[in-house]
Amino acid sequence: MRVHVADHPLITHKLTVLRDKTTPSPTFRALAEELMTLLAYEATRNVRVETVTIQTPVAETQGLAISSPRPLVVPILRAGLGMLEGMVKLIPTAEVGFLGMVRNEETLQPETYAERLPDDLSNRQCFVLDPMLATGGSLIAAIDFLFARGAVDVTAVCLIASPEGLEAVEAATEGRDVTIVLGALDEKLNDVGYIVPGLGDAGDRLYGTV
Ligand code: PRP
Ligand code: URA
Repeated sequence: MRVHVADHPLITHKLTVLRDKTTPSPTFRALAEELMTLLAYEATRNVRVETVTIQTPVAETQGLAISSPRPLVVPILRAGLGMLEGMVKLIPTAEVGFLGMVRNEETLQPETYAERLPDDLSNRQCFVLDPMLATGGSLIAAIDFLFARGAVDVTAVCLIASPEGLEAVEAATEGRDVTIVLGALDEKLNDVGYIVPGLGDAGDRLYGTV
């Protein structure tokens, strides 16, 4: 598993505002989208491309184009939806599929309540979007789902992760082509499964349900 933790003052600045408990939902939503766009640059570093020949007004030349099959972007509902626009802004030809998952807050186990993905993901590059990687349970379930459908590689983009969750994902995905791109790697998980210092419940803060 490859892990890339963003190291850029603009990303850290935006994450600091996102973490602040006084930041209201509209600002939180705008920042989640902007952070995704900044992280998408790193996340798509290995997107598959092919050589194409084009004609400029001056001469024929060769360039690169994103190749087929198109990449698949999968936001994990609900909170991952807040990152979708930030990703498709940068890669508008990507296909989008959806996975609905909710963590049981007693057992911390993920439950899948919705799935709208292509049946066959053979040879597909997949990008999973979820702001929080806490115990890792939700991301592991999402990655398993995509590989079971035939995906060749999965890149997950998370705004904040815990060391415990990252370790769990690494152990569960051994031997698979998985990349994790993070805005920040935080200190720890607390005893109720929340990331410390984190930002609280990402879905509630995005959609104003607190
Ligand atoms: C949050 C978050 C992740 C999950 C992370 O979603 O968006 O999907 O928790 O926790 P884990 O790493 O321990 O599995 P939540 O279950 O709160 O659902 P929501 O997006 O609908 O708010
Ligand atoms: N889900 C969240 O939204 N935040 C956490 O800190 C952990 C799980």
